[in-house]
Amino acid sequence: MNVANKTVMITGAGGGLGSEMARVLCAHGAAVWLLDLDAEKGQAVTDEIRAAGGRARFIRMDVTSEEDWRDAVRQVRDTDGRLDVLVNNAGINIRKPVEEMTIDEWCTMMKVNTGSAFLGCKYAIPVMRAQGGGAIINTSSVCGLIGHKYTPEAYTASKGAVTMLTKAIASRYAGDGIRCNSIHPSTVDTPFVQVLFQDPQRKAERLGEVPLGRLATAADVANAVLYLASDEAAFINGVALPIDGGVTCY
Ligand SMILES: NC(=O)c1ccc[n+]([C@@H]2O[C@H](COP(=O)([O-])OP(=O)(O)OC[C@H]3O[C@@H](n4cnc5c(N)ncnc54)[C@H](O)[C@@H]3O)[C@@H](O)[C@H]2O)c1
Repeated sequence: MNVANKTVMITGAGGGLGSEMARVLCAHGAAVWLLDLDAEKGQAVTDEIRAAGGRARFIRMDVTSEEDWRDAVRQVRDTDGRLDVLVNNAGINIRKPVEEMTIDEWCTMMKVNTGSAFLGCKYAIPVMRAQGGGAIINTSSVCGLIGHKYTPEAYTASKGAVTMLTKAIASRYAGDGIRCNSIHPSTVDTPFVQVLFQDPQRKAERLGEVPLGRLATAADVANAVLYLASDEAAFINGVALPIDGGVTCY
C-alpha cells in the first residue's frame, strides 16, 4: 500500500485504535500528526514512533473546538505544505441507556463523536481541494450500521450520523479529488471498553456475536485505514467498511 510521504492527521491518536493507525502509517512511510486531548498519552505514542525511526509529531487539541481545528490544520499546512489524509477517529461513550441519559450527556456524545468529524472535514477540505485532492476516513462503528442492544442509543445515533456525513461528503467533494470513507469496527480491546470488559459476562456477549469467533484487533482496524489512505484505494469513495468478523452480516 503506498502512503509514502503522505501527510496524515489522526485524532484520538493517543488511544488504542488511533495509536496503532499512527504506527502502521508511519511504518509505511507517511508523515503523521498525532492529535489528542490527552497530551501525555499522545506524546508518549509520538516519542515511541520517533524512536523507531517514524516521522511523527504531536499536537494537543480538543476535537470539539473549532479554534483548535483551525490552528491544527494551519500548523500542518504551514509545516508540511499539504494535508493528504485526515482520520477523524477520536470518540467517547457515555454508557447509559436512553431512559437514564440526560440531554446534556446526549449533546456531549454528539459533539465529540459527530461534531468532531464535521469540524475536521470543514477545515481539511479547503486544504485538500487547493492541492488537488485527499482522503478522509471517519471512524464510525458497527453501531453506525445496526441497532445494537448492548450499546447506548446516543452512541449508535452519533455513529450513524458519522456514516451518513461520510457519504454526503464523498458525494459532494469527489469532484475536488477528495475521497471520504468510514470504517466500522466491532469490539476491540482498548481503554474504550475497559469498563465493559471488567464484567466477564459482557465480554463473553461481545465475543459471542462475532461469526469469526474473536474480537477485532487494533491492527485489523489500522490495516483497513492504511488501505483507505493509500493510492491503491483511489476509486474507493463513500464506502462504509465493516471491520467486524461478520457481526453486521445478519
Ligand atoms: N474500541 C472499540 O471497541 C471500538 C469499536 C468501534 C468503534 N470504536 C471507535 O474508535 C475510536 C477510537 O476508539 P479507541 O478504542 O481507540 O478508544 P480510546 O479510548 O482508546 O481512544 C480514544 C482517544 O480519543 C481521545 N479523545 C477523547 N475525547 C477527545 C477530544 N474531545 N479531543 C481530542 N481527543 C479526544 C482520548 O483522549 C483517547 O486517546 C472511537 O471513535 C470509538 O468510538 C471503538
